[in-house]
Amino acid sequence: MQKSVQTNNDAPELSSASARIDDLTRQIEHHRFCYYILSQPEISDFEFDELLRELESLETRYPELRSPNSPTQKVGAPPSTEFQQVRHRIPLLSLSNAMSEEELEKWHERLQRAMESYELDSSKVKYVCELKIDGLSIALTYKNGLLVQGATRGNGEVGEEVTLNLKTIKAIPFKLFSKSGNAIPELLEVRGEVYMPVSSFESLNKALTDEGLAPFANPRNAASGSLRQKDPKQTAKRKLSCWAYFAYVTDPHIKQPTSHFETLELLQDLGFPVEPNRMLAKNIKEVEKYCEDWSEKRHHMQYQTDGVVIKTDDRTIWNVLGATAHSPRWAVAFKYPPEEAETVVETVSFDVGRTGAITPTAFLSPVKLAGTTVKRATLHNADQIKRLDVHIGDTVVVRKAGEVIPEVVTVVVSKRPKGAKPVEYPANCPVCDTPLERTGNEVVLRCPNTYGCPTQTKRRIEHWVSRDAMDVDGVGESLIDQLVRDGMIKDPSDLYRLTEEKLLTLERFGAKLAANVLSALEKSKTRPLANLLFALGIRHVGSGGAELLANHFGRLQNLVSANVEDIEAIEGIGPTIAQAVKEYFSNPINIDLIKHLAEVGIQMESPRSNALPTSKAFQGQTFVLTGTLTNMDRHEAEAAIKRMSGKVTSSVTKKTNYVVTGSNPGSKLARAEELGIKVVNEQEFQAMLQTAQSEES
Ligand code: IVH
Repeated sequence: MQKSVQTNNDAPELSSASARIDDLTRQIEHHRFCYYILSQPEISDFEFDELLRELESLETRYPELRSPNSPTQKVGAPPSTEFQQVRHRIPLLSLSNAMSEEELEKWHERLQRAMESYELDSSKVKYVCELKIDGLSIALTYKNGLLVQGATRGNGEVGEEVTLNLKTIKAIPFKLFSKSGNAIPELLEVRGEVYMPVSSFESLNKALTDEGLAPFANPRNAASGSLRQKDPKQTAKRKLSCWAYFAYVTDPHIKQPTSHFETLELLQDLGFPVEPNRMLAKNIKEVEKYCEDWSEKRHHMQYQTDGVVIKTDDRTIWNVLGATAHSPRWAVAFKYPPEEAETVVETVSFDVGRTGAITPTAFLSPVKLAGTTVKRATLHNADQIKRLDVHIGDTVVVRKAGEVIPEVVTVVVSKRPKGAKPVEYPANCPVCDTPLERTGNEVVLRCPNTYGCPTQTKRRIEHWVSRDAMDVDGVGESLIDQLVRDGMIKDPSDLYRLTEEKLLTLERFGAKLAANVLSALEKSKTRPLANLLFALGIRHVGSGGAELLANHFGRLQNLVSANVEDIEAIEGIGPTIAQAVKEYFSNPINIDLIKHLAEVGIQMESPRSNALPTSKAFQGQTFVLTGTLTNMDRHEAEAAIKRMSGKVTSSVTKKTNYVVTGSNPGSKLARAEELGIKVVNEQEFQAMLQTAQSEES
């Protein structure tokens, strides 16, 4: 049954215009809910557009009445220039994986044991099963029902602020309305997964290849690339959607929900899209049945699912059991086994990477695999080629497992064509002809001509300009290729010595393009220290590691002169990274590079405003949390301690400085008393936090 739409085209006076705008906003939000969430539209697309158009024309006539949260602002918001980094109020953890039914049962046993150790009744525990959507996780913050911030997960602690981009996703509400009279919380943090429906992914890739551009490897990458566009208009074109799966309610007048299943219902009531195939299971057998049922059914969905997320329904269990460094103990991701398909190897190419590693890639006859068309697969290294004994023309089995690019797993020798030639691994670098080497026990062969091999130089500079590094817009692969080929650049510092005159000598280069490149380079000089450290391309230092190093050392020079022990002492940095950092700075070529970078004006220290707040009471102090906190949950408490430069560990030792106790503290309290460690209750802890925060401001 279709409901009629109340449109009104007469020009109203200001006060009635304001009332009409409110009315239209409500109607539009209602129909959006029916369309995106219930999948039961009450009006046609045309009628929906009519409502939007009327709202738009009223806002044009009365610009003072246009709210930044108006539904008309969903598409075509003004371009953002940069992504700000935002520290998540509550860190975004990841999940531990169960790769088989057996591992799921083991997780279940661990959970039961943990519950019993806290004297919780493990026999009645219920589980929420949700399809695990393969997209990227986001954190949305609503203040008094308005979307004020949206961020990517980033490294779990710090993400990118992508509010405007998220606002272009029609499934994400701007403003919350409760269908059944639930109160709107003062502060609501919603976590969810942004994904690209398979059909949108396929048409996007077709459009990209038609334009001669590289397609995305899978819907998850496409979603991530689309959400992280600098211009929200581009994101708006990319048909993204979202499922919400988590909420933290902060409001003195509203109780934080205690059932996760009910939280999902509350989210749906407030206008969020929640994946409809969730189930509340009474025991682990029902969970296993759910996983089994969905192993086939999931292939017929419009979105990719790579597993099932299982969470205990009772959220008080969440607070009591807490998390390991990376994942909560009360949830697990059951992953479906990787998918496989047969196809034919057409050719094999050998590429040189940034670190000189030679990676063989098999080019295949296109084959459908886990919702995408696969045209190439990795052969990993020389040992793998030898083990598989791949021949050109061989039929092979390719496999895709979650995030990994497809790989060749076996050769179907019985289908080998007559006269097929084996794939020969080159003895010399395919680019500079230097004999390849193997270091230590490594399986990869590398071109040792680090600073002479043009492809390695190119890859290093490509890495330098990439988004998570120095983020130099407009300097892409083809420009770097020309510059290296013409001998104009040998290392990243040379980029900053380019002049308009030099750039104009290049093919297809005009004054405008040259000016853009020079200004993008200039802008990149003041990127945060973490970006610079990542950009240097030190082995094993990813963007997360770079951030830890930058936060700790503050200035590049401090890191250069640090010894391995200093580096290893940083929480989150292991011996491999510490050793690699030391080796990097022991190489005179790298020290020269840093000198050159300083000469061209690259900023080498964190600006003061970037420094983390610290407080004497927390700085360098180790905290252990035990029992259930009532005013903040465990994640919030941990995040607050870390924000103040304190550490949180899970067991009480002589090195612990404070044990914070909630209700029903566990054996940690007894241990603290035994060791004479200071014990503070929740009120005392909050008072400590307040004093620390006021010291900061
Ligand atoms: S809960 C602390 N629920 O899977 C709990 N995650 O492998 C964190 N994901 O980073 C996540 N669907 O990006 C949760 N229904 C769901 C999910 C889900 C997909 C993703 C999410 C997370 C990753 C962990």
